[in-house]
Amino acid sequence: MAILLPGGAGYIGSHTAIELLEEGKEIIIVDDFSNSTPQVLETIRKITGKDFKFYEIDYKDRAKLEKVFEENEIEAVINFAGFKAVGESVEKPIEYYTNNISGALVLLDTMRKFGCKKFIFSSSATVYGEPEKIPLTEECRTGGTTNPYGTTKLFIEQILKDIYQSDKEWDICILRYFNPVGAHKSGLIGEEPQGIPNNLMPYIVRVASGQLQELSVFGNDYDTLDGTGVRDYIHVVDLAKGHLKALNKIEKEGKGLYIYNLGTGTGYSVLDMVKAFEKTTGKKVVYKIAPRRTGDIATCYADPKKAKEELDWKAEKTLEDMCQDSWNYIEKQANRK
Ligand code: UD1
Repeated sequence: MAILLPGGAGYIGSHTAIELLEEGKEIIIVDDFSNSTPQVLETIRKITGKDFKFYEIDYKDRAKLEKVFEENEIEAVINFAGFKAVGESVEKPIEYYTNNISGALVLLDTMRKFGCKKFIFSSSATVYGEPEKIPLTEECRTGGTTNPYGTTKLFIEQILKDIYQSDKEWDICILRYFNPVGAHKSGLIGEEPQGIPNNLMPYIVRVASGQLQELSVFGNDYDTLDGTGVRDYIHVVDLAKGHLKALNKIEKEGKGLYIYNLGTGTGYSVLDMVKAFEKTTGKKVVYKIAPRRTGDIATCYADPKKAKEELDWKAEKTLEDMCQDSWNYIEKQANRK
């Protein structure tokens, strides 16, 4: 029985693929390379020394997706096939709603048709909108998302709740990621944002490497210790391991709809990140204070207790690991070019 990973060639999908293969699981990746490259697949094989099936298809293509289910025995699906650029989602809402929501519906409908009812979904802390309280627990109010990307996550969560309500044979696990950063320790896979990055860590590494001139720190007048925004940065390998734990839960216990925060429980400010990066790598990060970015909140970090208690999962990597591994990836990339 295999685990299907739509979007498995992407940033979080590829790191999760490695953890699953290393755990001895059989996987199948489905990807259309809309935000990844075929080379990632070879790299996953190289790192793990293991092989897997791959289909180059758009997961919204029902006929092609059905063929994947016909040709394989699929036990569970972990869905990574979502568009995720916040700014782009504001420019292209139809594309975001179509890809993320219609795609998820085609996938879920196909799963139902083939009697495969174990599903793990990549959600985001963005579903909490303006946090009701800090740290955020899974029971906190959701809603009030400020961009179509975030709204697709919120809507898909609702769709999953409705599906479970209608048919209790489903096993569904919603994972709310906080801020994923870092890369595999090999330096061979990592985050590859197209164009100028929106997220903090990819921006920091490009300033440190000289590809970008300076970091704009969006606001230093928030109600935080140093006035800059505070987030819960989590190493992508810790995040990937969280999927393995979620899979164990739905394989063994079964029948339920579960929601977990995947975060470290610690908040760091933008300036904490700049300082930690400089200290760890010895590279200078030139920055200036700029106005606040629309849609940003002051502070967001997780209460990760539920995942610890119910999944036996906890983030292990340090802030230094996150900085070092992000840098390592960029350096290796530069050497390959
Ligand atoms: C953003 C998205 C969130 C998404 C997540 C994916 C918004 C409002 N939220 O989260 O929906 O799930 O990315 O990782 O866009 N910062 C700077 N300068 C920069 C970039 C960022 O100062 O050039 C600051 C931000 O103001 C924020 C922190 O760094 O305080 C983190 O920003 P970012 O990495 O973009 O993540 P989020 O905004 O938390």
